[in-house]
Amino acid sequence: MQSDIEAILREGEAAIAAASSTDDLVQVETELFGKRSALSGAHRALGALEADQRIAAGRRLHEVRGALEAQVADRHDALAATERAELLVADRLDLSEVIPNLVRSPLSRGHLHLVSQARDELEDVFVGMGFEVAEGPEAESDWYNFEALNMPPAHPARGMYDTMYLDIGEPETVLLRTHTSPVQIHLMEEAVRNDTLPIHAVMPGKCYRLDTPDARHLPVFNQIEGLVVDRDVTFGDLAGTIQTFTTAYFGEGMQSRLRPAYFPFTEPSAEFEITCAICRGAGCRTCSNVGWVELGGCGMVDPAVFAAVGIDSDVWSGFAFGFGIDRLALMRHEIPDLRSFMENDIRFLSQF
Ligand code: PHE
Repeated sequence: MQSDIEAILREGEAAIAAASSTDDLVQVETELFGKRSALSGAHRALGALEADQRIAAGRRLHEVRGALEAQVADRHDALAATERAELLVADRLDLSEVIPNLVRSPLSRGHLHLVSQARDELEDVFVGMGFEVAEGPEAESDWYNFEALNMPPAHPARGMYDTMYLDIGEPETVLLRTHTSPVQIHLMEEAVRNDTLPIHAVMPGKCYRLDTPDARHLPVFNQIEGLVVDRDVTFGDLAGTIQTFTTAYFGEGMQSRLRPAYFPFTEPSAEFEITCAICRGAGCRTCSNVGWVELGGCGMVDPAVFAAVGIDSDVWSGFAFGFGIDRLALMRHEIPDLRSFMENDIRFLSQF
């Protein structure tokens, strides 16, 4: 009997050590402690023993059961820990994959808006042609936006500009500029004050009109204005400047042309058109099949404007032009709707 009990202990220890998973161990437990186990058999056999032998064997049997139970518990802890570790490895999210990307492209923080990029490029092109870059205020008085530009109160041309007025001072005296042309007035006044004529400048900036947003209009948009005031400036200089700019910005093969138009602050005035950047002049939907797209207005500075700022138009002459930066970017990148510029959709913005 005694040797049977020791055999149960040895075999039990071996079986526990051999269990390779917690499931396996459950199986081993049933085999060790179940009704049909050697342990239970030995218990039942106790009854047939002499009293003193029964006591000794019973005690030993109790010890062996306790020892095996403790070993099962230890083995269970060890196996469960290994299994949990394996599960963690298998389920692991490999966040380290993101790190090399971040390290490789530290500039993925973002970039300038497409319209800002276009404005910077335009400035570069004009600086390369000898222009300086100037800026003016977005809130203007009626004088700068209209009157000095040869649009006295009630002038019909004011109707071209759906003006947003600010609630400052007398009604309709302070406004958000409807075009960048008032910056011309600031530059000319300053040049007269400081006696620094001639002027060769471009003036980019935001403009405002009370327009309902649609595919081709935004109530806030960007223009770039150009102004040259010098001796003996001709309409040919204006046409040449526009053509030089067109090839510098869009590349060889792009043409510009002028068509008669009217602006109160230039005389003669023209609209300038350039070869459609999308079809290169062949005709497409964007240019309504004519091969040309209208970009902006231009003309020779009207003597009435020179008079308003105190420049002698017998000595000085000049030309001016202005066009929309947003529309230019739109054309160059074949964007169907101007509103995309304002929607702040990162999927759109990150493409440029
Ligand atoms: N300011 C005009 C506009 O926004 C464009 C223009 C600028 C025309 C300069 C002529 C000369 O409509």
